[in-house]
Amino acid sequence: MKTNTKLRWGILGAARINQQLLPAIVAEQNSELVAIASRRPGAAKATLDQYAPKQESVICYDQMNALLDDDLIDVVYIPLSNHEHGEWTLRAINKGKHVLCEKPMALNVADIDAITEAAERQNVKVMEGFMYRYHPQHARVKEIIDSGSIGEVRSVRSCFSFMMQPARLYRLAEPLNNGGGAMWDIGCYAVHAARLPFYDTMPKAVTAFVKKTETGADSGGSGIIDYGDGRYAQFDYSFSRARRAEYEIIGTKGGLKCHNVWAKQAETPIISWWTEGGENNLEELPLNNHFLLEIEHFTDCVLNDHDPGLSLADARINCKIINAAIDSAETGRSIKI
Ligand SMILES: NC(=O)c1ccc[n+]([C@@H]2O[C@H](COP(=O)([O-])OP(=O)(O)OC[C@H]3O[C@@H](n4cnc5c(N)ncnc54)[C@H](OP(=O)(O)O)[C@@H]3O)[C@@H](O)[C@H]2O)c1
Repeated sequence: MKTNTKLRWGILGAARINQQLLPAIVAEQNSELVAIASRRPGAAKATLDQYAPKQESVICYDQMNALLDDDLIDVVYIPLSNHEHGEWTLRAINKGKHVLCEKPMALNVADIDAITEAAERQNVKVMEGFMYRYHPQHARVKEIIDSGSIGEVRSVRSCFSFMMQPARLYRLAEPLNNGGGAMWDIGCYAVHAARLPFYDTMPKAVTAFVKKTETGADSGGSGIIDYGDGRYAQFDYSFSRARRAEYEIIGTKGGLKCHNVWAKQAETPIISWWTEGGENNLEELPLNNHFLLEIEHFTDCVLNDHDPGLSLADARINCKIINAAIDSAETGRSIKI
C-alpha cells in the first residue's frame, strides 16, 4: 500500500552489502534515501554512484555523527562491521532514529538488552536484518507445518556453507570474541534458520564445535540446540565446504526441505515435502527479492506503527545461542541456557 508520507532513510557505512540494500531502499515506494555516511572520505559518494546512480539529492557525509544529527532522517540502516553494530544501533536510537541493523544485532546479550531498553524509552522500531525471513517461501513452510501434514516437529537440520574466495578471507581477521569469523558471518543464519519452527522458544542447552584459525576466528562449525523432550535443531556452517543453503524439518508424520534458504532474486525457491501417508510434493515458488521485501516490511512497521516481524526478543535468543555455542566449543562442554 502506498502512503502519502515517505520514510526517510540514512545509511551508516559504505559497505559491500549496500549493493543489495541501496537499490531496495530506492525502489521501495514509501521510502526515500536521504543520506549515506562513511568514515572514509569519498567512499559514501562512490558507493552511491556505484549502487544507486542518478540519486543526486542524496547527501554524502564523511562523519557518522553528522548523519545521526540530521533531523531529515527517520530511520537508519546499519551495515557496519559486526563488532560495531551494538554501539551504533544504540547511538542511533538515542538520537530518536528507527534502526534496521544488519545481522548480528550485537555480540552479547547485555548489548541487546540495552538496545531493547533504549528502543522502548525512545519509542522507536528496531530490527535485526535477517532478510531471508521476508521471502514468502518461509511463510509457505510455516503453512505446511501449521496444516499438521508433517505432524509435530521433532528435529531440524540447517546448513550454510561455501568456499570463501581468498580475497574475502579478511573476514577472519578479527577473533570470534570481536565479531570475526564464520559463526558471526554465516553461522548466525544457520542458527536462525534452525530455530524456525521453535521461533520464540528458549532452548535448554547448546553443544557445538568450531574450527579455529590462527587469528582466533573460526572458519566453520557445527552444533546442536536442545529444545527438550527429544527435540533438536542442528546447524552447520563453513567457509571451506561446498555450497549448501538448506534446511530440513522432520515431524512425527513426515518432513520438508527448503532447498535454497537464502534464495537470491534470480534463484528459484524450492520446497519439497513428504508424509508417511505417501504424499510427495515439490513446490517451485515465484522469484522474489527478499531485500526489497525486508525494506517494505520495516517501512510499513514504522509508518503504520506495527511490531517488526523479527523482534528484539528473537535477536536476544539468537545471540544467546551463538554465545553458548562459542562457549561450548571453547570448553568442550554442553552449555545450559
Ligand atoms: N544480509 C546479507 O545478505 C548480508 C550479506 C553480507 C554481509 N552482511 C552483513 O552486513 C554487514 C556488512 O558486511 P559487508 O561485507 O558489506 O562489509 P564491508 O564491506 O566489510 O563493510 C563494513 C564496514 O567496513 C568499512 N569498510 C568497507 N570497506 C572498507 C575498506 N576497504 N577499508 C576500510 N573500511 C572499510 C565501512 O565503514 P565506513 O564506510 O564507515 O568506512 C563498512 O560499513 C556485516 O554485518 C555483515 O554481517 C549481510
